[in-house]
Amino acid sequence: MFKTMAVLGLQFGDEGKGKIIDYLSSRFDIVARYQGGANAGHTVVVSGKTYKFHLIPSGILNRKICVLGNGMVIDPVELLKEMDMVGEYSPLKRILISERAHVVLPFHKEMDRIEEEIKSSGKVGTTGKGIGPAYQDKYARIGIRFADLLDKNILEKKIEMNLKFKEKFLNEKYDVKKITDEYWRIGKKLKRNIVDTSIFLRKSIENGKSVLFEGAQGTHLDVDFGMYPYVTSSNTTVGGVITGLGIPPKYVGKVMGVMKAYTTKVGEGPFPTEIKDNIAKYILEKGNEYGTTTGRPRRIGWLDLNLVKYSVNLSGVNYIAISKIDILSGLDKVKVAYAYRIGNKKIKNIPSRVEDIQKLEPIYREFDGWEFTEKDVKKDIPRNMMKYIRFIEKFTGAKVRILSLGPARENTKLLGPI
Ligand code: IMP
Repeated sequence: MFKTMAVLGLQFGDEGKGKIIDYLSSRFDIVARYQGGANAGHTVVVSGKTYKFHLIPSGILNRKICVLGNGMVIDPVELLKEMDMVGEYSPLKRILISERAHVVLPFHKEMDRIEEEIKSSGKVGTTGKGIGPAYQDKYARIGIRFADLLDKNILEKKIEMNLKFKEKFLNEKYDVKKITDEYWRIGKKLKRNIVDTSIFLRKSIENGKSVLFEGAQGTHLDVDFGMYPYVTSSNTTVGGVITGLGIPPKYVGKVMGVMKAYTTKVGEGPFPTEIKDNIAKYILEKGNEYGTTTGRPRRIGWLDLNLVKYSVNLSGVNYIAISKIDILSGLDKVKVAYAYRIGNKKIKNIPSRVEDIQKLEPIYREFDGWEFTEKDVKKDIPRNMMKYIRFIEKFTGAKVRILSLGPARENTKLLGPI
């Protein structure tokens, strides 16, 4: 069998994937990201030093080869900044960018702002990183790809044509020659990093290398299966691995889903288990639930196992990693939603229309609280916490194999073989 594993989010993003990927990546030769862009954000703490990533897989800190796949939309200016941040890990040698990945340009960010303004009260609450507009260009077949950055004439023509579609909307005046020059120079810097990553990955897997596929955002932000239109513009679920990296499905081995012990969400849209009481405030502060990319406070809610189960089924998740379970430590009672009520009906499925999701009332099961934090990482799990974990396993059908008890790599507990 091939030694590969996909790691993806089971909720609304911010599940703590970066930390889990950092922890797991020591076991793999290559870490490959398959979708999204600088809308993602994760913080990894290694040897007391904090790194904030938006584009580069955190596997770079384990000195692994990191691939940015064709399914991504990449802001090259942001990428260079991150490469500088991890300069001591030889990013110029270790980072491979798909020549088919799409480039996020300054006007994508302006379009992102304009689209949100037009939507007004129906806005998505995007990160403002130009993600939607860059994917729109990709599917409208007017996008600019990393291969284009390597030829000044081609680049100039494509930027000029692209801007013709947007000039009615944009307020700023963009100088085609200036942008071309700036991005062509970046292309020159990254020339050796821009390759056919699909061929590289397939050959590597066939030659016995192990690969971790890194997802960004979460299942309920997936453009097809999330709570549309309050979603991001890519496939965050397992199908994204295949199209976003250019590998056959048989090369995807195990799937690890990451979930937070409670639920958080940034941006607009329905959130059935959202709470706004003192417990929400307690979790917000204790869990430092502020977006890595935008600094926005996250909305807080109890664990919604309906959402998690949907994600497990959709992506064929084998193993679950639970993050931030330490944040619940010290609470008297911990609640988990396992079904919804809509009128007189009890349902477990998630309706496809947000208008219907908004009407769902969660049905909870209450668990007695526990005390267990990062200092207990080597100890046995307390009985009440174990009951919570077993309930998650029974309900979803996936095995909980990792617990994260704090931001540092050492505060991670392995519960079984993976
Ligand atoms: P966009 O991806 O910037 O277009 O934003 C679309 C939606 O996805 C908004 O609700 C964002 O808050 C959300 N989103 C995008 N990236 C992330 C992430 O990495 N974590 C959590 N939410 C995200």
